[in-house]
Amino acid sequence: MNSKLPRVMIPETKIKQRIAELGSEISADYKGKDVIAICVLKGSYMFFADLIRKVDLPIHCEFISVSSYGNKTTSSGEVKITLDTTEPLSGKHVIIVEDIVDSGLTVQYLLNHFKARKPASLKICSLLFKPDALKNDVSLDYIGFKIANEFVVGYGLDYMGRYRQVPYIGVLDNEV
Ligand code: PRP
Repeated sequence: MNSKLPRVMIPETKIKQRIAELGSEISADYKGKDVIAICVLKGSYMFFADLIRKVDLPIHCEFISVSSYGNKTTSSGEVKITLDTTEPLSGKHVIIVEDIVDSGLTVQYLLNHFKARKPASLKICSLLFKPDALKNDVSLDYIGFKIANEFVVGYGLDYMGRYRQVPYIGVLDNEV
C-alpha cells in the first residue's frame, strides 16, 4: 500500500485533539446519566474506540452494521442493516457514533430505526460531515470536522475494503 498512500487531509494529531474535545463535551452534557453509545460498523470502529476512551461516564457499547455503499463511491440510496444492536434502548440516552455523514441517508435511516425503540434521548456524533453532500435536513449534535465534498479514506473509512487502517483521514487523488 505504501506506493499509494492517500494524501493527508486531516493528520492523526488533529484527529486525536478533536476527539479529546468531543469526549469532554459529551462527558459534560451527559453528566450523571447512563449513556449507550452505538458504533455504526464498519467505518466507525476506530473513531468509536478512541472516542469512548475520552468519555468520562458509565457507558454501554452497542454495535450496528449498516451498508449502503458496497464497493461504490456513491451511496446506493438503500441502507441495509446486517447486524443490529442487542440491548433494549427504551428510556436510555443513546448516541449514534458515525465516522462520516455524507448524503445523510444512513444516519436518517438510523434515527428512524432507533426512535422506534423509544430512547430517552437520541443524538448523533460524527467524526466527519460533508455539508455540501447532504440530501436531507438531518442535524448533527456533535461534529468532529466539516469537510469538502471529496471521497475520503483512512481512520476506519475504506475504498473497496482498503485503507481502513490508515491512521489519518486522506484523499485518493488518482484511484477514485
Ligand atoms: C459509510 C459510513 C456511513 C455512511 C455515510 O458506510 O460509514 O455509515 O457511509 O454515508 P451517507 O451519509 O451517504 O449515508 P458504508 O455504507 O460505506 O459502510 P462501511 O461503514 O461498512 O464501510
